[in-house]
Amino acid sequence: MNFKLEIATLLEKVTGVTQQEIINAIEIPPQKEMGDFAYPCFRLAKQFKKAPPLIAQELCEKIERPDFIEEIKIQNAYINFFINKNVYSKEVLQEVLKQDFGTNKIGQGKTIVIDYSSPNIAKPFHVGHLRSTVIGNALYHIFEALGYHCEGINHLGDWGTQFGKLIVAYQKWGSKEAIEQKGIQELMRIYVKFHEEAEKQPALEDEARSWFVKMQDGEKEALTLWKWFYDISIKEFDRVYAMLQVHFDAYTGESFYNDKMAAVVEELKQKNLLQQSEGAMIVNLEEEKMPPCLIIRKDGGTLYATRDITAAIYRKNTYHFDKCIYLTALDQNLHFSQWFHVIKKMGYDWWKDLIHVPFGLVSLDSGKLSTRHGNVVLMEELLNQAIAETSKIIEQKNPDLPNKQEVAKQVGIGAVIFNDLYNSRIKDVVFSWERMLNFDGETGPYVQYTHARACSILRKGNCSLAETIDYSKLTDDVSMEVLKLLVQFPEKIQEAADKLEPFIVTRYLVNLSQAFNKFYHDNSILTSEEGTKEARIALVIAVKTILKKGLALLGIQAPEQM
Ligand code: ARG
Repeated sequence: MNFKLEIATLLEKVTGVTQQEIINAIEIPPQKEMGDFAYPCFRLAKQFKKAPPLIAQELCEKIERPDFIEEIKIQNAYINFFINKNVYSKEVLQEVLKQDFGTNKIGQGKTIVIDYSSPNIAKPFHVGHLRSTVIGNALYHIFEALGYHCEGINHLGDWGTQFGKLIVAYQKWGSKEAIEQKGIQELMRIYVKFHEEAEKQPALEDEARSWFVKMQDGEKEALTLWKWFYDISIKEFDRVYAMLQVHFDAYTGESFYNDKMAAVVEELKQKNLLQQSEGAMIVNLEEEKMPPCLIIRKDGGTLYATRDITAAIYRKNTYHFDKCIYLTALDQNLHFSQWFHVIKKMGYDWWKDLIHVPFGLVSLDSGKLSTRHGNVVLMEELLNQAIAETSKIIEQKNPDLPNKQEVAKQVGIGAVIFNDLYNSRIKDVVFSWERMLNFDGETGPYVQYTHARACSILRKGNCSLAETIDYSKLTDDVSMEVLKLLVQFPEKIQEAADKLEPFIVTRYLVNLSQAFNKFYHDNSILTSEEGTKEARIALVIAVKTILKKGLALLGIQAPEQM
């Protein structure tokens, strides 16, 4: 039973307002003394030509009272509905325990393209890319739960003059063995060396550019070297993705569009959008009060924006998306709004379905995280450190835990992900091991621990869901609080999707965990009397299930023991 809907039906009969409008207006009161649902009558003043409190009064007298309604009370302009607690606990628990609870069909037939992670090859995967990866992955799961078809795309930065530089650097200062042995780290070293040398010897820059032109033209030697750098990088990235359990449907990076850009440049010409400027080709964005969008460089090279425009058109034609969302740090705002407007100027009305989803920076708590690589904190090292720190805690708290290594991995990595998703995207993320691994804080380990606690109760009692449950045993305040949170799960998923904010789910899981721990603290479960015991066990099962489902939406695992 959907209480909101039922109440809206009752109200529709006495107000004449549409059911949907009523549903949108119904609020969940902040205090339980104010009932379970509240309907504000302010908006009815015009229609009824009366003061809102008076309208509330009159409506209250007229509303039908089916069994599920315990009481209706007026507070100023609000009509407060109190649901019969027995009915409430029965309906909620039955609903929550359904296998598909938390999924939805609202997105059926619609496709969302998610462009996330997208690191630059031949450069280390650093913590900045962690955010894009983790937020994108969570949104992928969230939209999937709502029935959307998702296409996860890794738009690798695998094309551009920097690869010309790398080829020059390799030929001058590189060795095959060193690169094979040390991977990206060695590529980084020779890349940095290139920049140092090019300061003294600017001709190197020209050499690099001409190598990139060779790449663009499909010259074999250039492409073979490029492909080798590519493979080495992907091998390292894939290790990180495996640790994070992140997957992509396509690794169509910038290089994928090399042979597709000419047609788009031609289209821009046809549509009279290209202008010459200092030897380069641009799209003028003066009307939009933005600097021009550079399409072709003086030397004939294409740019990041050229590839993004081409990729968007390709994706529209390939996936027929309803939305295409891009996860990058806030500093790329201008880039995205520039080329989104180019798409608009091309006459594509779907430009409004392109959405840049920006996020804040990652900062490191003290120097603890800096590594021998200087400023760059490598993702793999960071994750390994998280696992090592977690192992230490497990050694102290639960040295006999079976499967210690695996659990340390799930908890350590889960802590990093949870920390990243704890606040609204735009806020900066601070890494503090102490805070993010605190088992009693608002952290990943805390939620995982709560889940494991629920599992442990069920394991100890060898419990399963009873066939008949006396729902009246779950009508005390603490149990009701848990039930109230449980039933909100689908709304939270929807809200997270609407706002493109996984933190809505993260916070929800913390609240549910807190409510459950209070329930656990206040009540005996396995030793309670018959009837009560079965009802409480059902509640434990429900909480365990939702915590696990919720963590999965965030891309976090839920170990049964920790
Ligand atoms: N490779 C870029 C970077 O590391 C991010 C790419 C984001 N996606 C895109 N379609 N522009 O900054």
